[in-house]
Amino acid sequence: MPDQVNRAQAATVFELFPTPVLHVPALLTTPDAQALAQRLVLRAAVPNSSSDKLAHTQPLAPGDDAGVDALVSLIRPHLQRMGQLLFGQTLPWLVKDIWANVLQTGGQQALHNHANCFVSGIVYLTEPDASARTVFARPLGGADFVFRNDHAGSQTNAFNAAKWIVPAPQVGDLLLFPSYLLHEVPRNQGGERISVAFNAIAQRLDSWGYAVSFQP
Ligand SMILES: [Fe+2]
Repeated sequence: MPDQVNRAQAATVFELFPTPVLHVPALLTTPDAQALAQRLVLRAAVPNSSSDKLAHTQPLAPGDDAGVDALVSLIRPHLQRMGQLLFGQTLPWLVKDIWANVLQTGGQQALHNHANCFVSGIVYLTEPDASARTVFARPLGGADFVFRNDHAGSQTNAFNAAKWIVPAPQVGDLLLFPSYLLHEVPRNQGGERISVAFNAIAQRLDSWGYAVSFQP
């Protein structure tokens, strides 16, 4: 009987099918991030379709900016680590699109995800205000309960949360996430928020001989 009591106290919760989001502190030094921000903010001339206080650069091609080229090299080993988590193998990865975002006070980025890629990422060139940290959202209309129990007396946890807010990123930090994850930036109540975003692909996936290759 004592054995049964001990076994009952050792109950385990298995967290099934977790989603990897990789935070890499200080991928860029603060001076390098600030210098890159100063150059890219001048090129952010493409207005966002849903916020007039958000602008983007055109996609940055290799050779456009030596700092961006160096950044891509710094990102690559972390992409390989994400690839190991998502696909179980260290694969060749390619950053296929990279661009900058400049969000003014009062602007926001609508909920979205990224198509035609596997891993997406953000490099924070300024420290985002607490109001404008990247927010990830649970898939809408997923294979989940359609009942909720949200009220002052209920507690949010990893199993019932609808959203997850990135813990305070610092200047130069990198965040990698699966491209299918919905994310947004709420209304920015702080100063100018500058980031670099990118999409990456694994060059080849093989499922027991049924392989696909990708190129931009
Ligand atoms: Fe995004």
